[in-house]
Amino acid sequence: MSNLYDTYFKKPSLKSARKRKQKETPNIDFNAHINIKDVGQGKRYLIQTYGCQGNEADTETMKGILEALSFKETNREERADLIILNTCAIRENAENRVFGELGRLKKYKKKNPDLILGVAGCMPQEEDVVNRLLEKYHHVDLIFGTHNIHKIPEYLETALMNKERVIEVFSEEGAIVENLPKKREHPVKAWVNIMFGCDEFCTYCIVPYTRGKERSRSPESIIDEVKGLISEGYQEITLLGQNVNAYGRDFKDRAYTFSNLLEALGKLEIPRVRFTTSHPNDFDDATIEALATYENMMPHIHLPVQSGSNTVLKHMNRKYTKESYLDLVGRIKRAIPDVSLTTDIIVGFPGESEADFLETLDLVRQSDFEGAFTFVFSARKGTPAAAYKDDTAFSEKKDRLKRLNEIINQGYKKGHDRFMNKAVEVLVEGRSKKDDAILAGYTPHNKLVNFAGDPSLIGKRVLVDVTEPKTWFMKGVLHEKS
Ligand code: 5AD
Ligand code: SF4
Repeated sequence: MSNLYDTYFKKPSLKSARKRKQKETPNIDFNAHINIKDVGQGKRYLIQTYGCQGNEADTETMKGILEALSFKETNREERADLIILNTCAIRENAENRVFGELGRLKKYKKKNPDLILGVAGCMPQEEDVVNRLLEKYHHVDLIFGTHNIHKIPEYLETALMNKERVIEVFSEEGAIVENLPKKREHPVKAWVNIMFGCDEFCTYCIVPYTRGKERSRSPESIIDEVKGLISEGYQEITLLGQNVNAYGRDFKDRAYTFSNLLEALGKLEIPRVRFTTSHPNDFDDATIEALATYENMMPHIHLPVQSGSNTVLKHMNRKYTKESYLDLVGRIKRAIPDVSLTTDIIVGFPGESEADFLETLDLVRQSDFEGAFTFVFSARKGTPAAAYKDDTAFSEKKDRLKRLNEIINQGYKKGHDRFMNKAVEVLVEGRSKKDDAILAGYTPHNKLVNFAGDPSLIGKRVLVDVTEPKTWFMKGVLHEKS
């Protein structure tokens, strides 16, 4: 085995990823550590992104790094010299899609043997996935995980110059890397990572293994980034973390929490602040107060509940009850009366009975959710729930999902109906996907609005009168004085 092979062949282990070490996470500066060369001169790249906003934000970083290496983006697979799949491991079907896609992309590799095919993101953090890639997907040249995106320049140099297969996945998170270049997808909306990883260990979830322990960026670097975005004309930021309410919990040298960060951002000239995603157990009153106090805090909260049954919640290790969740919902609604709440729900968790499921439906009705991502439980190897006894038929689980979605969809419609004949502020994002003459954008409550208007309004905030609320969006007309 050559030295290079040693260096670039590092496989992950879920067992090591589970360990939480007390050591502090160092911060490093990308610019000071990475040697940028023009390895991408004359070459084109394409990245396909799967999964959550965390992955979307990581893709923006990968693109930023690739462009710093002189690669240019293409959306045509046949013209690409580098294709990276930024993958998601949260459910089995997300993984199956990626394996299918790798099979389909093989033909481009045959046509162009110099094409570099890479797999990044959460899937490579699982040892079984890496073993399968090594055994069956010989046309994959580059495998790296969530902790080492900043090392792309090194990996590409090796893959391109030495024509070596590069496999490097760290089980343990390393440093927080600041000043990573980013190619932001949207001209007026930006993701801002505030923390990485998760220490909750919900029993069904693979994320604490694939994303590592919780570590928060310093408030100074977040605020600096937001100030930079403001000066570039950004109108909306979404703070990102697997559990934003745990922000700051890992600071050893100071007491600074998510509510402190919201207070600081509330005082800045950024018109819209959102965040995702929250854990009900860590959502404190100081956070509710900050949200109610500052006008730029958008009145939409995504608050995953997962189940309404106390038995199931306990088995999920969610650390709250149906009653305490409903109490939190009540406190939020009292402080922010017109708030829009959305959630995530898993049906068919091992051992979930019909009575447990009915508790979920009851909680959904009581919470008045205006939207939800709903899923059938998917067993993830290495997580505790994958070993739980599960004797509910899949057909029964699908039926529960259908019954749940009927109520959730009524919630979407009700959430739109309440804006009928009202003027809402819309941050115009672009043209509607279906009709070029129609503009589309989102309200503070995160409702999609379509209306006829001049494309010069794209990127601006305008008032729109809602004329036709539907289930998935609202139709409107530009307000006269807008
Ligand atoms: N099976 C089904 N859904 C899951 N989620 C996370 N892990 C699983 C799993 N193993 C859902 C949760 C979470 C959302 C991002 O994905 O609802 O909030
Ligand atoms: Fe997964 Fe639970 Fe962490 Fe969310 S809070 S990422 S569901 S372990």
